[in-house]
Amino acid sequence: MKVQALVLIVGIAMLSFGFTGTAQRKNASFAEKLFARATADDFMNEEACGECHPSVVKNFSASPHSALVSDSKLPLDKQGCQGCHGPGRIHQAEENAEVISYTKLSPKESSAACLRCHEKTMSESHWKRTEHARADVACVSCHQIHTDTENGLAHASVKSDPRTTVLDAKVDPKLMLKADEATLCGSCHPTVSAEFRSANHHPVPEGKMACSDCHSAHPSKNGVTTQDMFKGKCVTCHTEKAGPFIYEHDPVAGFTGDGCQECHRPHGTNNPKMLNSVTRGLCAQCHTDKLAQHYPGQTCWNSGCHASSHGSNSDPRFLKP
Ligand code: HEC
Ligand code: HEC
Ligand code: HEC
Ligand code: HEC
Ligand code: HEC
Ligand code: HEC
Ligand code: HEC
Ligand code: HEC
Ligand code: HEC
Repeated sequence: MKVQALVLIVGIAMLSFGFTGTAQRKNASFAEKLFARATADDFMNEEACGECHPSVVKNFSASPHSALVSDSKLPLDKQGCQGCHGPGRIHQAEENAEVISYTKLSPKESSAACLRCHEKTMSESHWKRTEHARADVACVSCHQIHTDTENGLAHASVKSDPRTTVLDAKVDPKLMLKADEATLCGSCHPTVSAEFRSANHHPVPEGKMACSDCHSAHPSKNGVTTQDMFKGKCVTCHTEKAGPFIYEHDPVAGFTGDGCQECHRPHGTNNPKMLNSVTRGLCAQCHTDKLAQHYPGQTCWNSGCHASSHGSNSDPRFLKP
């Protein structure tokens, strides 16, 4: 009897392990589950896709992604059309229902299907923590995999506002973005876009810089999270502004406040030199004691005064370089 009871207990334990396994698989994405139940026979010769989707097949061969997944040495589930859309025979057998449609799936499921192959760029947990993932932005909100040969690469749902003075900047076709970054990112961030239209701005609309010089659109291998979406240190490009100086100015050196942003807007403003303000208020936000008694000129940095407000090698009051 005892032995039987033991067997029963072990049996129950094994069953519950079984259940945990199933529960974990339930958390798997739609794409993972679809591939998990496929056998080699479920993958079909992809020439057949073209019989029903002729224009898609034709356009795909023009996509930079085409060559990357066409190697016949790749495992079946990472190869060709079916590496992205799932096994063809399952798609056929179930009345075209069980197919990975990147636009019809939820943003979360859609992105998970891309991430099956892009673990090297970022893991799903990295991605999930970004502001973009949390706001239901998907990989295909920014990337366009099938080239639209009729409308060109930079086609799409992203329409330029005809009133805009933002010019189309260049875009690397290998990245398969829906448009250049000024247009693409600007389409969802119109206030930022407007800042780039002000008189003094970083030359993003002119195509000399991209949003991604300063921001990570998504995490990289080293797992940048929400908080780090600002990746560009101003000084990687403006080295000379940060010294080191013999006489450092606290906010420039980063000891006080938000660094460069204490005095500058990062995108653009109508003020010269992209300053937050062109009045003494810029400096008086910290030097409150100077507001009432120290009033020699309109700005503090006009010529003859604190003209070296980033720091100085000769003067502790920043009057000279
Ligand atoms: C016998 C015809 C046929 C074949 C072969 C076929 N499909 Fe389909 N496919 C369809 C039909 C019909 C639909 C449903 C279209 C719809 O709902 O608009 C569909 C839908 C799709 C969708 C979803 C489209 C969407 O709206 O997002 C994808 C992706 C897709 N097929 C990919 C493939 C791939 C990849 C292959 C080859 C492995 C393939 N199909 C083979 C007929 C076919
Ligand atoms: C790298 C992943 C990937 C590969 C490989 C791929 N597709 Fe797609 N496919 C997508 C994405 C993403 C979309 C959604 C639209 C877009 O971003 O271009 C899509 C859309 C589609 C659609 C729906 C199109 C529409 O306009 O409604 C069909 C059908 C399709 N693909 C078939 C194919 C066929 C056939 C192949 C092989 C020749 C293929 N795909 C290869 C990712 C892929
Ligand atoms: C079947 C596997 C597979 C799937 C699914 C897949 N990709 Fe890829 N993709 C690759 C491979 C392989 C490369 C080339 C090597 C690399 O960059 O990892 C690539 C490259 C890329 C590149 C260009 C990288 C560069 O450095 O030029 C982008 C962008 C990209 N994929 C986006 C996507 C998006 C968006 C999706 C989902 C719609 C997706 N991929 C789905 C396999 C895949
Ligand atoms: C907000 C827009 C946006 C979204 C959403 C987005 N990307 Fe990107 N992606 C970009 C931009 C811009 C670049 C090029 C600049 C860069 O590398 O930072 C890029 C580059 C890439 C590259 C090539 C460079 C690299 O880091 O390896 C891959 C691969 C890629 N994206 C895949 C994806 C996948 C997979 C997803 C979804 C999980 C995704 N992207 C979501 C905008 C986006
Ligand atoms: C499809 C729309 C869409 C596109 C395209 C898009 N974003 Fe976003 N972005 C969002 C949403 C929604 C949020 C969530 C917070 C918000 O509403 O501003 C966000 C958040 C952000 C944040 C964080 C904001 C914060 O308050 O901390 C940054 C930075 C950002 N995006 C930069 C970019 C860049 C750079 C690109 C282009 C590579 C881009 N976005 C493209 C929709 C988009
Ligand atoms: C010169 C570097 C730089 C460039 C180029 C840049 N940004 Fe920013 N951006 C910043 C900094 C710095 C912040 C403030 C970050 C903070 O306060 O955490 C910021 C904040 C943001 C925010 C969140 C706060 C807000 O102002 O709404 C969004 C969204 C954003 N940027 C989008 C973009 C887009 C879209 C582009 C391209 C059109 C772009 N940025 C280009 C540096 C830059
Ligand atoms: C990827 C390189 C890069 C990064 C990062 C960068 N900048 Fe710039 N910055 C430029 C370029 C290019 C110009 C335009 C120079 C020109 O037109 O001569 C510029 C111009 C400026 C100007 C205006 C100069 C003028 O004469 O009007 C200021 C101020 C400025 N940047 C501050 C910043 C701040 C603050 C940051 C960080 C938030 C930053 N930059 C990050 C490249 C960069
Ligand atoms: C305490 C306020 C303050 C801080 C903090 C500050 N700046 Fe400035 N910056 C100024 C003022 C004021 C000017 C305008 C000087 C002028 O017109 O002579 C200026 C001008 C500039 C210019 C244009 C210079 C030129 O020669 O035309 C650049 C580029 C710049 N700052 C970059 C930066 C960077 C990068 C940081 C952070 C490391 C930074 N600034 C931090 C106040 C500041
Ligand atoms: C974010 C705060 C902040 C801003 C904005 C700021 N400063 Fe300062 N500044 C400091 C701090 C902190 C020190 C060093 C401690 C101290 O003595 O007050 C300092 C020191 C100085 C000194 C050295 C003399 C002294 O009082 O020790 C001068 C001169 C100066 N700042 C001028 C300026 C000018 C001009 C501006 C505007 C372009 C400005 N500051 C904007 C925080 C700021």
